[in-house]
Amino acid sequence: MLKVVVLVSGGGTNLKALMDAIDDGSVKNARIVKVISNNPNAYALERAKDRGIETRVISPKDFESRGEFNNALLNELKDIAPDLIVLAGFMVVIPKEIVREFPMKIINIHPSLIPSFCGKGYYGLKVHEAALERGVKVTGATVHYVDEGTDTGPIILQKAVEVRAGDTPQVLQRRVMEEAEWKILPLAVNMIAGGEL
Ligand code: GAR
Repeated sequence: MLKVVVLVSGGGTNLKALMDAIDDGSVKNARIVKVISNNPNAYALERAKDRGIETRVISPKDFESRGEFNNALLNELKDIAPDLIVLAGFMVVIPKEIVREFPMKIINIHPSLIPSFCGKGYYGLKVHEAALERGVKVTGATVHYVDEGTDTGPIILQKAVEVRAGDTPQVLQRRVMEEAEWKILPLAVNMIAGGEL
């Protein structure tokens, strides 16, 4: 059974998609042991508690320095010793020490077709604003392994989504979530749990 930790910062719809897929059996051989948030107000925490999943808040605001925050996160993850760490809308750049401790054991969902609209400064709604500004006709989502760069790790799955005339960033974000993110994130976890990767 793959021991999974999910890191979140906000609404947690990707977390929900993963929990649903585990509950309905479309993701097999995986269990979410803990959900960790940097943001105490993340609705994702409520979603986890509702399913009886243990939660923990580790906020940079509770530490003197970034280094201390990074250490607290690293120590928590070491204590859990997960087989897989899923970044599901986690708006914190994962420090090198954590990547080195868990090589090829951290995956991230990003709301564009990498290498478009990714890297420093591209997160959440900003990604969709940039896609609309550039006028692309197709966007999508990517699940990738996390390495020491920002959105540079090996790609696991991608799914394309059409951009439509009149899209606002919010409308496009929702379509990318529905048509791509909520599908490929559980799929990637299932592939890893099934030893396909
Ligand atoms: C999702 O669109 C996810 O792809 C994105 O934040 C949103 C979180 O939504 N992640 C990034 O931009 C990471 N760079 P959620 O909390 O409802 O899952």
